[in-house]
Amino acid sequence: MRKLLIFIQVIFYLSSASAQTFKSSRDSINHFNQIDYQQMLNLLGIESLRPGPSGSPTAENVANVDESKATPYASLPDPLTLNNGEPVNTAEVWWDKRRPQIVEDFDREIYGRTPKNLPKVIWEIVSETKGFEGEILVITKQLIGRVDNSSFPTIEVNIELTLTTPANAKVAVPVIMEFGFKFPANFNRPERPANSPPDWKQQLINEGWGYAIIYPNTIQADNGAGLKEGIIGLSNKGQARKVDDWGALKAWAWGASKALDYFETDPSVDAKKVGIEGVSRYGKAALVTMAFDQRFAIGFIASSGQGGAKIARRVYGEQVENVASSSEYHWMAGNYIKYAGPLTPNDMPVDAHELIALCAPRPVFISCGSPKVEGSWVDDVGMFLGAVHAGPVYKLLGKQDLDTTKFPEIETFLNGDIAFRQHIGGHTAAPNWSYFIQFAKKYF
Ligand code: GCU
Repeated sequence: MRKLLIFIQVIFYLSSASAQTFKSSRDSINHFNQIDYQQMLNLLGIESLRPGPSGSPTAENVANVDESKATPYASLPDPLTLNNGEPVNTAEVWWDKRRPQIVEDFDREIYGRTPKNLPKVIWEIVSETKGFEGEILVITKQLIGRVDNSSFPTIEVNIELTLTTPANAKVAVPVIMEFGFKFPANFNRPERPANSPPDWKQQLINEGWGYAIIYPNTIQADNGAGLKEGIIGLSNKGQARKVDDWGALKAWAWGASKALDYFETDPSVDAKKVGIEGVSRYGKAALVTMAFDQRFAIGFIASSGQGGAKIARRVYGEQVENVASSSEYHWMAGNYIKYAGPLTPNDMPVDAHELIALCAPRPVFISCGSPKVEGSWVDDVGMFLGAVHAGPVYKLLGKQDLDTTKFPEIETFLNGDIAFRQHIGGHTAAPNWSYFIQFAKKYF
């Protein structure tokens, strides 16, 4: 009995000690996060900001979900008008003049500039194993992309990536890469029941394609405290960002581009048919990846919300003020914070439909869940409108838009070269994977 008591005390001590360590590391992240945020506000000369609304339906300052109050603006920036007011009537003017203007605005004001001469990444296959995805024999490569840090050796960046392809494929296969959550090593993920329907990985393998997972946190931490580390910190030699320096979304997108560099050298991958997928903040990252690296053939952008496919200036669900706050500003350029005070979202020179337009003419699938399950934070109508207003650019380039401006019944599958589908589930891409694959098969 005494032994048992001592045992319980030891376990209790150990678990509270690790809870303490966890708490103090979280406190220290919060501390350095606030310091970095304040430094950026000082650099921008911002003294006060408008707070964002709350996502909690019972909060006093709950985010607006009344459609009649969602559109305080009269128009959106026009992707087909040049900065000098001239119309864009041809594909040439789009490619040569207008597209670079939009890229410049997103770079300077919204996501930040990806530096030009970033260090080299050397990809190493750490292991190669055979296994089964359902009934199909597959090969999985675990890779590490070691970023050359000779310019600033105290910061190490090692990008983690896995690639799984059918073992018996005779030709190079299309691959869809996901921005994946990395679970701690000791985290026991529940097993999928044996009779559950095929998940996204199995669906891709059944199609004869491959899948890859890249782990954003190994490229750039998901908090402001980490901005002086990771690839952003390495490129700045450990110093704080300038107002138009890149944020985490651009950094994650850069990592995805580096993975694509690797796929171009791997004979099992058809690098002309590589897609990018992500949910939520990683949906934003997937859209940014697609928009800025034209080698990506297709995008599956799930529940990306504010900072993603949602029209930013819509007053519905999550607001620019939320993303500009100390818990999310690190995704964006410092300049973005200005639009939460003194400026307003309406002052932004660009909006989300133009980010989707940067993907044109390549196919892109915008996905969301049911507000009954997912909630209204992501703003399903806002993401739909992002897709709608990207349409004119797709059409100019000879492609199909959504072919409607009316928000469809749930589960309607709109598929031009821009696709949209709202599934009946929550904050996930899962129920839309089979539709995305159907969409991708038109091209692959
Ligand atoms: C928060 C955030 C969203 C983000 C989401 C997620 O809800 O406000 O912008 O997409 O987290 O990544 O899960």
